[in-house]
Order: sequence, then structure tokens, then C-alpha cells
Amino acid sequence: MSTHAEETDMADSQALLNARFGTDLPGTDVPDAIVPLLDRRVTRRYTGQDVPDSLLDALLAAAQSAPAKSDLQQFSIVVMRDRTRIKRIADWIGTMDWIATAPVFLVWCGDMRRGQRLCAMHGMPHVNNNLDTLLNTAVDCSLAMGAFMAAADAVGLGTCPVSYVRSHTERVSPLLGLPSGVYPLAGLAVGWPVFRRPVSMRLPPSVVVHRERYDDSGLEADVAAYDRRRHARDPVAAGSLKNNDVYPPRDGVGWSENVARQLSVPERFGFSAYLKTKGFDLA
Ligand SMILES: Cc1cc2nc3c(=O)[nH]c(=O)nc-3n(C[C@H](O)[C@H](O)[C@H](O)COP(=O)(O)O)c2cc1C
Repeated sequence: MSTHAEETDMADSQALLNARFGTDLPGTDVPDAIVPLLDRRVTRRYTGQDVPDSLLDALLAAAQSAPAKSDLQQFSIVVMRDRTRIKRIADWIGTMDWIATAPVFLVWCGDMRRGQRLCAMHGMPHVNNNLDTLLNTAVDCSLAMGAFMAAADAVGLGTCPVSYVRSHTERVSPLLGLPSGVYPLAGLAVGWPVFRRPVSMRLPPSVVVHRERYDDSGLEADVAAYDRRRHARDPVAAGSLKNNDVYPPRDGVGWSENVARQLSVPERFGFSAYLKTKGFDLA
């Protein structure tokens, strides 16, 4: 049981949860301290105002404060502030012009190279060039990016991750001078929001949270209800559906069908080949 002093008013709690899930979660009390986490959203348009180095460095320090597997800290962050270079990435992606409005663009990189160099420095072989290390680099990097985003939100900045840097590795990699053992996991646009987007509705906890044992026996019914809730609040326009060039666009498509439209067409199937050129064995 939590105390009232620490909790958001119950009505506010349910309003927040309703915004996030499209339904109340009776019995769930939201402590004030985690309200900003429930209320977060990405930002895809930034004012021209700069982000001072002193603030950016504090946010990067928060990112580096995230936990890291075995304290190995296997990630690197490339900070981009040169608007021309940021625009080059936006232009390569082509469909996300708002990236060019960001005064800061960070490229979050998985980094096996540092560990390899540390082994060489100490005259030992590095014998962990494998899939587990790839995952460890991605997890360390993601946790750091999440900590950065939470810190940025806390000071009123907006952010948006950009996985599309992985669709243009052949250009992004040389632009940033990424050496062997280092790959771009995601970009992150950072800046002062022009406006706050609406909260994006999430799957109900009954689908995502399993108690003691995995159980997805209720998936169809739960997802059908989620599709309806989401469509009622924020219908996807036929023209904005995924892979309209493969499947005919039509009105009334729900979240789950849109997911299927995306996942039934291969994305970035050249990425493992790229990782191999960067020295990852993936064994
Ligand atoms: C790893 C990752 C990659 C993402 N890549 C992109 C991207 O390339 N372009 C984009 O506009 N949004 C991107 N997003 C943002 C998601 O689309 C967004 O988080 C999602 O639609 C839910 O919205 P919300 O964060 O406001 O709740 C990415 C998010 C994550 C976590």
C-alpha cells in the first residue's frame, strides 16, 4: 500500500492510465514520481533554440549512469551539432524531414571495439566476438539512450529515436568514421518541442505482463479490443498505413493489422552483412 502523500490523486492516476492504455486500470495508483514516465511521448518537430553544451553534457552524463552488463560499458555516442551534417542524414532517410529541425542529433552505437582494444592493451586475446556480445552492446546502448531520454524529458526537451540510421549504414558509417567493431544502433533527435504530441496508446498490461508463467491465450480477444480502442481515439489514415505499395490502402485498418503489414515485408535484411563488414562474427 502506498501513502496518499506520494500518490497522484486517484482521478488523475486513472486519467493518466486511460491516456496511456485507453482504459482504466482499477487499483493501480501512480506515485507522483513516475507520472512523467507515464506521460512521455516522442517529439518530431523542434524550435530553432539551441541546447547548451553544459546541459547536453549533463544529459550525456545521465546516459552514462545507466547500468551496463558486467560494467563493460560497450557503447559509444556520436554527438552531431553541425546542421548540414544532420540534414544530410535527414535527406538520406528522405521521409523524416523533421530530423533536420533538431539542433542535436546523437548516434547511439554498439561498441565491441573498446573491449578488443582493452584486451590488446593487456596482451590478452578477445575471444567474445559473438552474438551474445552483439546483444550486450545493444542492451547497454539502449539503456543509456533510455536514461538520456528520461533526463531530456525531465528538463523539457523533446527527443525521438531514429532506427532509420540503420537503413543507411553505408553512408552513416563513413560520415561518422565508425571503425570496425562499432555499429549505429539508433539515432536520437534532440531539441525543444514545438508542440507535444498526444500520448500514444499502449497494449493492455494483460498482453505484455505475464504472472509467473508466459500465457498469451487471451491475445486475440485482448488485441481486438485494443484495436477498437486505438482506432476510436486515433484512426490511422489509409494513406499512412505501412507498405501501401504492397497491400491496398483502405480505411478502418487497426494497429495489429498495420503491424502485420509492416512485419510481413523484410526490413534491413542486409544488416547482418553490414555487421560482418564491421568485424562482428555473430557466432
Ligand atoms: C528503437 C526505436 C527506433 C525508432 N525509430 C523511429 C524512426 O526511425 N522514426 C520515427 O519517426 N520514430 C521512431 N521511433 C519512435 C516510435 O515510432 C515511437 O516511440 C512510437 O510510435 C510510440 O510513440 P511514443 O514514443 O510517443 O509513445 C523509434 C523508437 C524506438 C524505441
